[in-house]
Amino acid sequence: MTDRLITHLRHVDLAVPDFDKQRAFYTEMWGLTPVAEDKGIVFLAAEGSPEQYIVRLRKDTDKRLDLIAYGAGSRADVDALAQRLGTAGVQLATEPDTLATAGGGYGFRFFDVDGRTIEISADVTDRKHRKIEERESIPVRLSHVVINSPDPSRTQAFYEEHLDFALSDTLVHPHVGDVMKFMRCNPQHHSMAIAKGPHVSLHHISFEMRGVDEYMRGTGRLLRAGTPLVWGPGRHAAGDNTFAYFLDPHGNTIEYTTELEMLDEDTWHPSIYDVSLPENQDQWGTANPFEELVSKQSFNDVDPGLFLAPPI
Ligand SMILES: [Fe+2]
Repeated sequence: MTDRLITHLRHVDLAVPDFDKQRAFYTEMWGLTPVAEDKGIVFLAAEGSPEQYIVRLRKDTDKRLDLIAYGAGSRADVDALAQRLGTAGVQLATEPDTLATAGGGYGFRFFDVDGRTIEISADVTDRKHRKIEERESIPVRLSHVVINSPDPSRTQAFYEEHLDFALSDTLVHPHVGDVMKFMRCNPQHHSMAIAKGPHVSLHHISFEMRGVDEYMRGTGRLLRAGTPLVWGPGRHAAGDNTFAYFLDPHGNTIEYTTELEMLDEDTWHPSIYDVSLPENQDQWGTANPFEELVSKQSFNDVDPGLFLAPPI
């Protein structure tokens, strides 16, 4: 097993024009808790997660992915990673420094090969969290993030070389080739995945629910409220997790999931799944058929924030 410097996915930060609508959706409908707020910015926590926040919303005229944040083991690991990236010619957006957000900590930002802003941090104080109760249909924690990339192999190589991510499984389509690469940075099957898309953008953010009952209750709440369903409910083959994908008010895809597979990294060998076989898309057979329109909904808009760090 590799000696990784990063440990896990911490949060995903979004900028949106209709801030009030987005804030209302993520708190009242999706089930996150606002923990800190200022004019045009809100930090949203999951009640079951020790992370200070798992989503940050920021008001801007442009919709964009502000950043994706990963944790590192220690301040020394943050420094080591910044040094390693800098030496390899990766462009840093900020040097390692104390973080001004809740829980403090120490971190820096850089641009990945496609221009997304990535933050690495350590030493952030845990938030006081709690056990999610039976039938309580709010997210326990952030599960994973999926990014669109026109050249998934190039993006995969960057994350393997610079951040020690490892490939867990690949989805292929007979006419398209590789359509999804599941990448792990700990025993969880994937904390990040790279989808083949027409441009660089956010594909989806996934939130883990307590169990299948809570996941179905959450899914039902959104359906009853008329939230656009992209795909689901179902259970994937790769990763073995349940899925229900919806669109947020700005057209970002977001997912409720449960029971994502945990791997023994020492013995795991990646598999290739042909997604033209329905059972590889959905073991249950309950989800709407995965058609071209379904995949197109998660291409998202062209992101104007590439190689451009968010102002905060
Ligand atoms: Fe997912």
